[in-house]
Amino acid sequence: MTSLLAGNRAQSVSARPKNLSLSNVLAYGEHMARFWRPGSERPRATLVDDEEGGVLFVSAPPSSSSSGFGHSSLERQRQRLPVFKYRDAILYLVENHATTIIVGETGSGKTTQIPQYLKEAGWAEGGRVVACTQPRRLAVQSVASRVAEEMGVKIGEEVGYTIRFEDQTNPSVTVIKFLTDGVLIREMMDDPLLTKYSVIMVDEAHERSLSTDMLLGLLKKIQRRRPELRIIISSATIEAKSMSTFFQARKKDLLHAAEDCVPSHLPAILSVEGKGYTVEIHYVEEPVPDYLQAAVHTVLSINDKEPAGDILVFLTGQDDIDAAVKLLREDTQDDRRRTSGLLVLPLYSGLSRDDQGLVFAPTPKGKRKVVISTNIAETSLTLEGVVYVVDSGFSKQRFYNPMAIEEDGFGERGGRRRGKEEEKEEKRRNHTYSQQHTMGDGEISDIESLVVTPISKASARQRAGRAGRIRPGKCFRLYTEEYFLKEMPTEGIPEMQRSNLVSCVIQLKALGIDNILGFDWLASPPPEAMVRALEVLYSLGILDEDAKLTSPIGYQVAEIPLDPMISKMILSACNFGCSEEIITIAAVLSVQSIWVSMWGAQKEFDEVKLHFAAAEILRKAIIAGFFANSCHLEEYSHNGLYKTVRSSEEVYIHPSSVLFRVNPKWVVYHSLVSTNKHYMRNVIAIDPSWLIEAAPHFYQLRAPNLAPC
Ligand code: CDP
Ligand code: MG
Repeated sequence: MTSLLAGNRAQSVSARPKNLSLSNVLAYGEHMARFWRPGSERPRATLVDDEEGGVLFVSAPPSSSSSGFGHSSLERQRQRLPVFKYRDAILYLVENHATTIIVGETGSGKTTQIPQYLKEAGWAEGGRVVACTQPRRLAVQSVASRVAEEMGVKIGEEVGYTIRFEDQTNPSVTVIKFLTDGVLIREMMDDPLLTKYSVIMVDEAHERSLSTDMLLGLLKKIQRRRPELRIIISSATIEAKSMSTFFQARKKDLLHAAEDCVPSHLPAILSVEGKGYTVEIHYVEEPVPDYLQAAVHTVLSINDKEPAGDILVFLTGQDDIDAAVKLLREDTQDDRRRTSGLLVLPLYSGLSRDDQGLVFAPTPKGKRKVVISTNIAETSLTLEGVVYVVDSGFSKQRFYNPMAIEEDGFGERGGRRRGKEEEKEEKRRNHTYSQQHTMGDGEISDIESLVVTPISKASARQRAGRAGRIRPGKCFRLYTEEYFLKEMPTEGIPEMQRSNLVSCVIQLKALGIDNILGFDWLASPPPEAMVRALEVLYSLGILDEDAKLTSPIGYQVAEIPLDPMISKMILSACNFGCSEEIITIAAVLSVQSIWVSMWGAQKEFDEVKLHFAAAEILRKAIIAGFFANSCHLEEYSHNGLYKTVRSSEEVYIHPSSVLFRVNPKWVVYHSLVSTNKHYMRNVIAIDPSWLIEAAPHFYQLRAPNLAPC
């Protein structure tokens, strides 16, 4: 620990106010400032009393810090970032508060700088590690590389990262570790109190991803047992007050800590002022019939009419991004004069490291970069050089799909929400874009789907803000002003409230949290969704009748970072002696598609696919995980109509399947793709008696057919 912090820590105990009246808070501020750093310029912090929660706000921090940087170009860039002025204030608050909430514009340096400040101040000494979590894998890789570059170290050494299936850390030397919030939750299975971390920064908290919400609840618990742990919650926009209220620890929870290291139980909130430039907003006058085409035309029109500056386009997912990239690149070939200066690049998770590199590399001279991205570029990643933003007004979001649910009102919250959203979307779709891009976008995996959904006003503002980073910019919204003002929802719905909670439940169970409904949630999950998750886990034999993890299956499944159905299938394969094949199948199921079709090669394509038709023994192992997804043929027609056994929904075999038009009597599917109909993808033919064999608790023979118990 540097002497600066050691000094502060000694003073902080007496400096803590007994209660938080305005005068006390101001006195505390004075006190804090006096002891800040003997002999150095005193921080000019303005502390504002919050009447409801007694929360400490620091709105105008000092700019006095000198961190001993040299003068290389990267170091100069670091010092120019808005967060640099707040370095001392951040370190002070982290030292003195169990939880610090930092709100600051995208690009202000929160993610890349704060972990470095903490390390420079000694928080990563003595074998301790500073962690920074992100909801997205791509962001983890990208910011870790940047920080390693800024520190002049090799990635995987002092600065490392861990995402699912990829660990680029060296436990003996890594001191700053970037990881997804999901991976940090998994680490708790081995080390429930996360003892190696001195500070955990939960970044992008405004996204309210399922894992972020779970992590925040878990960290709150850990904090009670480890008062020396510091938590930083950071994001571009956040409901800081509710986050702060959530993290107000009770004093008595911290009592067993040594007196001289008791931090304030009140969370501090720091707002980092950015230096964004103005962004001119343009709306379409009439709803556009097809947002993808409209995005492509807008890019071409910007290129024709506007001065230099890169373009960032927000679409929804890999499929429409690839389509737009293709259209723009084709246009380049058709009309070299018009688009020769365009460098068109996609940005979505799953992109190779090389492709990621192209997106972040400086734009070559004489070129205009066009990055077509998912909402990952909304706040998680900063692209330099962007002056124009094209906002489709949509993103892909998870939604709880009520389809696989009994029709007795279950899933009210997720379902009705979705119903409303769909209604709205439908209304807008009629005005704004063709079926072409909405159909085919819904991906259902059992009871959950990724749906192209209108974004919120908060997201729209974030997207526009990306245009004002280096100079005044322009944002072209592909929706009308009236829609923005009157119909666009103000905020998004936390993922927790629109997700399948099966994985969440199993992880909490594995961490010993038995009363999941009573868990301290930032926003309560729908109880019906919880109950449904418990039912699924019970049917898979992962939970017992007392809702406890079964041994060994339940514990084994909890350890595998996959969908529990896939994990169950892998574990069952041992009994059938086909582990190797099943692991290959599990890998195939974990990516969107392993197939790339080529014009003129349809015959070869179909032949190769036939090799993947599953053998007798493999199917039994598959059923052990996926027995709940069984369907029987209802009508012997051209495209046979099937009905799910569980809820009698009408479904069809997807045309890409080798079983398309073969129409076996009984099938089990992996996932459903929803277009104008529900299509089963990755299908195997089965004998119905295998279902009873695999899940006698789930199925019964009800003449003449099978039925769920
Ligand atoms: O977290 P926040 O949005 O506040 O900012 P950041 O991600 O720490 O980014 C700070 C600066 O680092 C920005 O100016 C980025 O351009 C730069 N950066 C970069 O050049 N490459 C990255 N992979 C990440 C950040
Ligand atoms: Mg960030």
